[in-house]
Amino acid sequence: MLSRPTRFMVAWNFLDRPKTLEVWVPTFAKVFPLRIRGEATEMAQRPVILSLTKMHESGMRLLHESAELRMASGIDPETLQREIVGADGLIIRTGGVIDAALLDRGDRLKVVGRHGVGYDQIDIEAATERGIQVVYTPGANTQSVCEHVFAMMIGLSKHFPQMMSALAAGDYHARTRMMGRDLLGRTLGIVGFGRIGRRVGEVAKAAFGMKVLYHDIIAAPPEVEAKAGAVRVGFDELLRESEYVTLHVPLDRTTRSMIDEAALAKMRPDAILINACRGPVVVEAAVAAALDAKRLWGYGGDVFEVEPPPPGHPLIGRPDVMLTPHSAAQTDEGLRNMATWIVEDVLGILRGEAPRNPVNDPAAVLANRQRLGK
Ligand SMILES: NC(=O)c1ccc[n+]([C@@H]2O[C@H](COP(=O)([O-])OP(=O)(O)OC[C@H]3O[C@@H](n4cnc5c(N)ncnc54)[C@H](O)[C@@H]3O)[C@@H](O)[C@H]2O)c1
Repeated sequence: MLSRPTRFMVAWNFLDRPKTLEVWVPTFAKVFPLRIRGEATEMAQRPVILSLTKMHESGMRLLHESAELRMASGIDPETLQREIVGADGLIIRTGGVIDAALLDRGDRLKVVGRHGVGYDQIDIEAATERGIQVVYTPGANTQSVCEHVFAMMIGLSKHFPQMMSALAAGDYHARTRMMGRDLLGRTLGIVGFGRIGRRVGEVAKAAFGMKVLYHDIIAAPPEVEAKAGAVRVGFDELLRESEYVTLHVPLDRTTRSMIDEAALAKMRPDAILINACRGPVVVEAAVAAALDAKRLWGYGGDVFEVEPPPPGHPLIGRPDVMLTPHSAAQTDEGLRNMATWIVEDVLGILRGEAPRNPVNDPAAVLANRQRLGK
């Protein structure tokens, strides 16, 4: 006898993009009851993903197609500890702290995906110990951040903040009161010559004929240096020589407060400092003091020691700064890359595939999963 139609999901990969199709078929329940029902139940068990963030629509679509998506109702520890229960995967952006206490509440948690590049808000060691894979999206926003850095370098060089507010106030003649400058042929010091730092160096050389210095704990291969015409120097030499200093290091013990009063004192008074990596790499009060004393030409910041910055912040509203609210990667291209890359990696791991962009060692994660009987 023909029974009610049975619904099941068919999932497959097309050009590396997971697809699913919902299929309703009439079934001879009496003839094939167990097999059909078994299939339907298995397919219906889609992974549960807790996301702390809305993403670019391309990533949201992938999640809706292949997972049960739960949006976190808040990012405070209490809410997260409650809502992580039952989630197979977690997706985060810049907000939310992923520490051992939260990971302990993740009874089914296998993967944490960081939509973005810096992962300083995740306790990586704690994740590894618990057999939880952490993945991120290195390179997804390299070009976006690079262009943001040049927007600030150019904007500060041409006094955009002062000129724009003067014009808005009806002061057209501000044009002759301040003298801007060109980037062409000037010296750029890049602190942290990784993906973003290297891209900034290449563009500086190709577009503006800049002389590029870099400081990094690791020397780049000669062919990489050649692309930017970059010369590796010590930190102090870079600070002394550069008319532009741009920071592209991760936030860790070695980089926190790297640009403090002492470092600023070594910089040229006509230098422009850009921070589009992490706020706490710079001591903001020291930057404000250097600007007040005219020991620095200008400051461009996309990130803050505390985000969002508190009222009365010493740099916000100054004429000699350009500040943006951690928006360097907020471009269509950057957001699309971050969203699709992280969703594909998280879903792939939950299907048993190898991580594409692991932060912690997949072998150590697997060994710990086995040890814990997960
Ligand atoms: N503003 C934004 O929206 C935004 C977007 C993307 C990335 N970021 C930040 O930018 C940082 C850099 O991104 P990336 O993709 O270039 O990372 P990356 O890992 O490719 O490069 C970081 C470089 O810093 C170097 N480094 C580490 N510690 C150092 C130290 N103490 N001194 C000198 N060099 C050191 C590393 O060797 C590496 O070459 C990220 O960690 C992230 O925090 C910010």
